[in-house]
Amino acid sequence: MVERPRGTRDFPPEELAKRRFLEERLRARAESYGYREVQTPMIEHLDLFVARSGPRILKETYWFKDRGGREICLRPELTLPTLRYFAAEMRSWPRPVRVYYQGPVWRYEEPQHGRYREFWQFGVELVGADSVEADAEVIALAHEATGELGAGPLELRVGHVGVVKALADAAGLDDDARRTVFPLLDKKDAKGLDEWLAGAGLGDDVSRLLRRVAGFRGGPEAFEALRPEFAGVEKASEALDRLSAVLDALARRGVEPLAVDMAVVRGLDYYTGVVFEIHSPNLGAESQCGGGGSYDLSDVFGMRPEGTVGFGLGFDRLAMLVPDSAVPADAGALDVLVAPIGDAPEVAALAALAERAIRHAGARVERDVMGRGPGKNLKYADARGARFAVLVGDKEAAEGRVTLRDLRSGAQELLSPASAATKVQSDLGCA
Ligand code: HAM
Repeated sequence: MVERPRGTRDFPPEELAKRRFLEERLRARAESYGYREVQTPMIEHLDLFVARSGPRILKETYWFKDRGGREICLRPELTLPTLRYFAAEMRSWPRPVRVYYQGPVWRYEEPQHGRYREFWQFGVELVGADSVEADAEVIALAHEATGELGAGPLELRVGHVGVVKALADAAGLDDDARRTVFPLLDKKDAKGLDEWLAGAGLGDDVSRLLRRVAGFRGGPEAFEALRPEFAGVEKASEALDRLSAVLDALARRGVEPLAVDMAVVRGLDYYTGVVFEIHSPNLGAESQCGGGGSYDLSDVFGMRPEGTVGFGLGFDRLAMLVPDSAVPADAGALDVLVAPIGDAPEVAALAALAERAIRHAGARVERDVMGRGPGKNLKYADARGARFAVLVGDKEAAEGRVTLRDLRSGAQELLSPASAATKVQSDLGCA
């Protein structure tokens, strides 16, 4: 038997009902902030991603040559595709442009708990405003949208990539050194950082501040107390001022609790300003359920720089955290089974009338298509959790009425198709 590819999943109906429910909540929250949904292709030119990140990205990307020899990939994320779309077709839209998206993305990573090769992201991008309020809005939206899903405790960490970049500049670190040291900071790997610093030959001040960044995570007050230590680092103060102003704006918006963490540097290359991540203490190693911040991709698309800020949520991880009990139980269940008895044409005609009338009254209706007898049909209706069965035999056909059986109480009535539909509608309370 052919198995599904590693790192992919099949979803049963109950799981999908849950995912749809959660997705609708995220959509509704994004729309309540004025964001509108866009959709981009699942495949893109590989160049779109290589242009910014370089060939390093190839080993994490599913890509192939199509029959025309073009290098095509399955999108590994949705910010670059959305900005590509923006550059091509949204440039004349009134600013700021607020869009959201959701859909599958693919990354060639080593699968483990909460880490897949095919997974889903829900995200937003706000284009055209380089401002404190734009940064704060996007963080507030991510915080609110994830907080109300029922995913349990979540930790919001906010930082600014400008701080570690300023330290790296002050130390004269090249790209390779940054690629080594940033992940150590991101992981708060104090031991690894010490080992690296021992051989790096940086000045005492920079080394001390890098250690401070790696070791610090605290509330806005603790952050304000720490700030003066960075006063001597050129370019850091601008980043710290912006971060401080965004923290004030977040407080005004009631976003709490949050931790300031200047070691949040994010893996992607395009971030330039305030960045944030949302983590769950209940997810194990892959605890990050979402992240984002302000970034600049203007050079990739030959545009003038204008503020861009957004986030991507790991939809699968959030869905894992939400208990099934937080989702309406009956999504996708069956209300009524219509069970004709025998194959006389009058029986089939009456069953069809009843089926349509009850379905159009708003109920979820299945009709037996296996020619089973009433006993087996009632068993099936029970197994599917149906509330009613409609039995149509020769006796019913002769009277033009159907037997409506309430499967909970066992009571049954002989009713016209229209009356059966009205009764089902009122008992189920469907629209
Ligand atoms: P990202 O951090 O690479 O950011 O991905 C966003 C989220 O996707 C992560 O926080 C994580 O929850 C989830 N995720 C990442 N890899 C996997 C995986 N292998 N399996 C399951 N979930 C995963 C971005 O993609 C940016 N485009 C976000 C953004 C939007 N920044 C600005 N705008």
